[in-house]
Amino acid sequence: TREFCVLGNPIAHSRSPQIHELFAQQFEHNLCYRRQLATVDRFSRVVAGLFRQGLAGANVTVPFKVQAYQLVTRTTAEASFARAVNTLIPQRDGGLLGANTDGKGLLYDLKRQGVDLSGCKVLLIGAGGAARGVLKNLLDAKPEGIWIYNRTTANARALSELSTGVHCVESWSSLAAVDVVINATSASLFGQLPDVPERMYRHAEFIYDMVYGAELTGFLKHVQQVSDARCSDGLGMLVGQAAESYRLWWGSELPRIEPVIRVLRQQL
Ligand code: ATR
Repeated sequence: TREFCVLGNPIAHSRSPQIHELFAQQFEHNLCYRRQLATVDRFSRVVAGLFRQGLAGANVTVPFKVQAYQLVTRTTAEASFARAVNTLIPQRDGGLLGANTDGKGLLYDLKRQGVDLSGCKVLLIGAGGAARGVLKNLLDAKPEGIWIYNRTTANARALSELSTGVHCVESWSSLAAVDVVINATSASLFGQLPDVPERMYRHAEFIYDMVYGAELTGFLKHVQQVSDARCSDGLGMLVGQAAESYRLWWGSELPRIEPVIRVLRQQL
């Protein structure tokens, strides 16, 4: 039996143990995956202790993703672009590899829903950790361009400077329409909506909210009032990022995400 955990604070609500148990059933792997509460002060010591005891891998969630990036000995290209790590993989030499699977998770979920970003104009709303965490993979999908809009324009500008093909929305008059909209803000959590003109939703074909819940998110409720675009919440991204972590740890094929999304959706 290989042992894994997810580190966060709070952590009691985490769905990761169940998701990884469902993946393990697909392969008939033996796994024990538990939740681990940590504090900012003790995070590195807790991680070191767990891997000393033979942990086979860990996920890292809020608020430790940047701290995890700082403590690993190597990073994947996605993690170094994001400067954040959500997956820890112990190395033969005793070091720790840090990966960030959020972007791949998003792309797996888009693919599952028949959305191909190549040649598309993409509007990414938000410029915090969630937006930065998926930006490299969005670029790898070869869109025509990515336009970042954020409440605080300076943060969007900073992200747009990380790569060609990424633009900052300084004023809406410079952007007529996009094909795909991705909401990476935490505005929903405060019952608020990003300040985006309705026409951006009306002309889009597909609109994604990284947040999910038992009910339609506030963002998607608003979007559906003004647009016929196909919509999705972020439950599939949660399962998708877990699938990519699973693949990295086990060296297996990518687990099937669709049946796991169905189980989780029923329990929301
Ligand atoms: P995360 O890691 O979830 O991205 P974050 O780094 O705190 O968290 O970033 C939150 C994002 O949501 C930011 O883009 C933030 O905008 P600011 O850069 O202006 O702070 C955005 N956000 C949070 N609350 C918002 C609100 N009420 N309206 C619009 N945008 C909001």
